[in-house]
Amino acid sequence: MTLFFGADYYPEQWPQSRWETDAKLMKEAGFNVVRLAEFAWSRLEPSDGCFDFSWLDQAVDLLTEQGLKVVLGTPSASVPPWLFHAHPDMAIVDEDGTTRTYGSRRDASPAHPAYCHYAVRIARHMAGHYAQHPHVIGWQVDNEFGDRCYSEASRRAFQVWLKNKYGTLENLNATWGSVFWSHLYTSWEHIPVPRKTTHAKHNPGLHYDYYCFQSELYTEFQQAQLEALREQVGFEHLITHNLMGFSYGNLDYFKLAAPLDFVSWDNYPSAFWREAVTANPAHIALGHSAMWGLKQQNFWVMEQQSGASGWHVMSPSPQPGQISLWAYQAIAHGADGIVFFRWRSYPKGAEQNWHGILDHHGQPGRRYHEVKKMGEQLGRLGPGIAGSLPEHQVAILHSYESRFSFQIQPDSPQFSYEAHVAAYYSALHRKNIPTALVSAPSDLTSYKLVLAPALRLVSEETVQHLGAYVRQGGVLVVTPRSGSRTMTNAIVETPLPGLLAELCGVTVEEYDALPSSMTRRLKFVGSESVVNSSLWSDVLAPTTAQILAVYDEGYVAGKPAITCNSVGQGRVIYIGAMGDGSFVQTIVDYVLSTVQVKPALKIPETPSVEVTERWQGEQQLIFVLNHGAESVTLPLEGSYLDLVSEEHLENHLTLDPYGVRILTQPPVAGLETRK
Ligand code: GLA
Repeated sequence: MTLFFGADYYPEQWPQSRWETDAKLMKEAGFNVVRLAEFAWSRLEPSDGCFDFSWLDQAVDLLTEQGLKVVLGTPSASVPPWLFHAHPDMAIVDEDGTTRTYGSRRDASPAHPAYCHYAVRIARHMAGHYAQHPHVIGWQVDNEFGDRCYSEASRRAFQVWLKNKYGTLENLNATWGSVFWSHLYTSWEHIPVPRKTTHAKHNPGLHYDYYCFQSELYTEFQQAQLEALREQVGFEHLITHNLMGFSYGNLDYFKLAAPLDFVSWDNYPSAFWREAVTANPAHIALGHSAMWGLKQQNFWVMEQQSGASGWHVMSPSPQPGQISLWAYQAIAHGADGIVFFRWRSYPKGAEQNWHGILDHHGQPGRRYHEVKKMGEQLGRLGPGIAGSLPEHQVAILHSYESRFSFQIQPDSPQFSYEAHVAAYYSALHRKNIPTALVSAPSDLTSYKLVLAPALRLVSEETVQHLGAYVRQGGVLVVTPRSGSRTMTNAIVETPLPGLLAELCGVTVEEYDALPSSMTRRLKFVGSESVVNSSLWSDVLAPTTAQILAVYDEGYVAGKPAITCNSVGQGRVIYIGAMGDGSFVQTIVDYVLSTVQVKPALKIPETPSVEVTERWQGEQQLIFVLNHGAESVTLPLEGSYLDLVSEEHLENHLTLDPYGVRILTQPPVAGLETRK
């Protein structure tokens, strides 16, 4: 197996006379793959039905002469002017009813039949043309699906979708509770899309269905292209889509990823819209863990940051070492492909300020030399790493259903589902416990600990599944709002946590959304330790569970806040409160003290240092990554070989600023055995 290493290249943006230079520089950098063409529709089909692959053929040939493999993008993320002009009603319409103007990308609605037709047509033509090319190895369908659309085409498609889902209007009206505010529908055609209303928001049943519908629309849009590609290339080529990590929550990525051969995503640790200077290692890791968890399978980073990011403003440039650190971090979490965005910064167009490996002038500089050094290292290490598997001891249940529901009603003005999940992930990450984000129906048997943060929408099947996991010895942690809604986004009519109440051995006697100024102290039973909670309080009434902590102030003083229920061989811990990072860390530290999980390497906890592991058969590869600008020396138990520097390490381990080590020991039977 190969570890893929390369860049996103846009030959259509450069004179042909430059292509060979680029191809040679790429080869010298140790690249073995390029992604091409995902924004080249207007060059590939300059007018309706006139296809021109000649320029791309030449670019592909030049690149492949240098030994590079090619991943081609289908170009539907950016429609050519002639197509939009012919069908202006394919425009995306915002929630407030504004029709977006052509001129960026993702301009067209996936509900529009003409857009779908043309997108599939060019995908089929491209695939037919390149099916036999010996160096084309894969396809990326479109790029970064997203943007909900509220257009006329979407409204018509939504009504059909609802008819298929509910069968009758009686059923729909009953499920949504349309009788509220007199919305009993008597015709499918009367059903609106949830654009801005005069007053409060739309019916949460309708709103939730719309979000599910929009998500499915993109999945179907992808499926149509996927089938066109498969017709031509069968299973000879691998097919993916470029997803947007954990931070994008408008699509059910589990469903989007299901038909793909592998997941790929774009990783911009210091994107200009974030706190750029201090790229947060846990947040980057969260993206990788979420993308790994979509198929519980290794993934690619199809766009890995290689320079300052920017549109109208810029992020700081990655510090020396940071580009390769971030790329190694991706590998550490299960990436089998690293493709840098982008090869060369383009002096024109909307992304003039987005920097690639080469600056606008095209001369190799600091960033090129750093990437080249990594290319040399991977030339040596890649075959040993490729295909090795990360090992996650803990899983967090990631639910797009709950995410959609919280987007409509977060309940507390301070609550964010993403932040809640991220806080638990970060607390585990701080302890270097490898954690995957998986869907509730996934096979959980390999995880020693499973967390269900704010798993709001819960089905009977999920309860059965979690119950089986716990009875066989699993430990499940449940946090507030879990089980509070049905799968159609209605509030359950039984005491919370609804369908999870029996498994948790507890009911919620009452709950309280705390104002931002308020904290509520909790006290652990049988100990003097206290911790401040905030944001939310569930006051618990145990049925079969034991009390682990009680509230220690206010009118709820003495009432249970955290409980633990023994079920079969396992346990369910219900955390009835929420809080800031230190609250979550306290909870996670407590839970970790009761389960058999451990980091891959015993070193003192150091905020900038991340440890994770992959296994190549019986051989453990321990990635130690320094996210800090200072070098770090840590005591080390045992002796290791660092594969990056080829040094033998004993007693201590020094990491350069943004330095990376990959430690291994010869496999010794019985010493480090896999589960
Ligand atoms: C995304 C896109 C790329 C590019 C980068 C930088 O990830 O996929 O085409 O626009 O962002 O903005």
